Amino acid sequence: PVLSLVATTLHTEPESTFSVITGNRSASEVMFADALAELKDRYPQRLQLLHVLSRESQPSDLLSGRLDSERITDLVKALGLEDVEEWFLCGPLGVVKAAREALTGSTAKIHVELFHAEEVPVAVAEVGGASVNVRILLDGRSTEFPMERHERVLDAALRYRGELPYACKGGVCSTCRAKLVEGSVQMAANWALEPDELAAGYVLTCQSSPTSDQLVVDYDA
Ligand code: FES
Repeated sequence: PVLSLVATTLHTEPESTFSVITGNRSASEVMFADALAELKDRYPQRLQLLHVLSRESQPSDLLSGRLDSERITDLVKALGLEDVEEWFLCGPLGVVKAAREALTGSTAKIHVELFHAEEVPVAVAEVGGASVNVRILLDGRSTEFPMERHERVLDAALRYRGELPYACKGGVCSTCRAKLVEGSVQMAANWALEPDELAAGYVLTCQSSPTSDQLVVDYDA
């Protein structure tokens, strides 16, 4: 999807520019390498293409090694990408997390597409009874249901409101974000919400397990 987005936008928006950074062990493992090279040939001034390889040495140290948070930070600086409008992060959870970490504080819009989200440990509440009463608000409609403390709010809520928004279920994309109006939760992971969102009461419902007997969660907020 990212490749087709880049190709389409370069074609339809003559002012658009892209920097594509890939991370692989060797050049032979770069997905869509030919298609990317072809795009680069077609738009040499508007497309910057860099392959970071962990098991092949390259002319630049910056491009040799793992595509971790530190390297992404260095690449962003070296390429002058601090002020880009949008980032499209695509890959396994570990790489996407590293990129999110490197982009902390960026004002760009960040889009995430996960190849694979590893399960993160379930947060288990330490106090209270086994069952929790939850009320969710979505599209102006309120739904009330019970859930177990070891469950995630999103998983439980999906049994009653199948249209709830979510994508990665890994704490990365923020699609499942909602405001906790009443009660408290513990999040197993958070790679998406900024400190000001947390302070305002927003949570990632795919990562949240209850730590109180009552929850009110507003997806419309
Ligand atoms: S669904 Fe992606 S952070 Fe919850």
